[in-house]
Amino acid sequence: MQASEIISTDYTQQELIQGMKQAMRRLAASVVVVTARDGQTRYAMAASAVTSLSMDPPSILLCVNKTASIYPILDHGRDFCVNVLSGAHEALSIACSGGQKGEGRFAIGDWRNDPDTDTPYLGDAQASLICAVDDIHHYGTHGIFVGKVKRVHLHGDVHPLIYVDGRYSSVIENLKQAASA
Ligand SMILES: Cc1cc2nc3c(=O)[nH]c(=O)nc-3n(C[C@H](O)[C@H](O)[C@H](O)COP(=O)(O)O)c2cc1C
Repeated sequence: MQASEIISTDYTQQELIQGMKQAMRRLAASVVVVTARDGQTRYAMAASAVTSLSMDPPSILLCVNKTASIYPILDHGRDFCVNVLSGAHEALSIACSGGQKGEGRFAIGDWRNDPDTDTPYLGDAQASLICAVDDIHHYGTHGIFVGKVKRVHLHGDVHPLIYVDGRYSSVIENLKQAASA
C-alpha cells in the first residue's frame, strides 16, 4: 500500500493551497480555447475550468481569472466560443496560455468567424460552442460565466487534448501506449 498524506483545515492557508495544487494535478481535464471579439479585436485563452451546466436550457459554466485579458470582454457580456481542442492542438494551447499575446494567438490555427455573431471559432476544434453570457458570478479572483449555447460546430472524431499532472496528453496516445505495453 502506498503512503498517504492528509492535508486538512488544521494546516495553514499556504499548506492548503499547496495541497490543493497537488490534488488538482491529479484531476485530468480537457483543454479548450475560449474566444471572443470586441469590435476588431479578437481574444483567445486556454482554459480547463469549463463544464456542461444543463440541457434545459443548453448551457455551460466557465471560470476565468479576473487578470486574464479576455475577462473584461466576457464581463461586458460579449458572446464567446468554447473551442474543445483535439490532440493536435497542443501548440495552440501553449500559444493561448501565455506563449503569445493578443492577435499573435491567432497566427496558428484554422480560425473562422461565426456568421451569426462574428465570434472567432477554431474550424478544426473537436467542437465549438458559441454562447451568450447569461449570468455572471464573482468568487475571489475569478468570474464564473454561465453561457447559453446558441450554436454548435462539430469536427472530426472524438480525440480530446488532456492536461494532467502539469503536462499535455491525449486519450488516443494513452490507448496506444496501453495497447503496446
Ligand atoms: C491547460 C490550461 C488550463 C487553463 N485553464 C484556465 C482556466 O480555466 N481559467 C483561467 O482563467 N485560466 C486558465 N489557464 C491560464 C490561462 O490560459 C493563462 O493565464 C492565459 O495566459 C491568460 O490570458 P492572458 O495572457 O491573455 O491574460 C489555463 C492554462 C492552461 C495551460
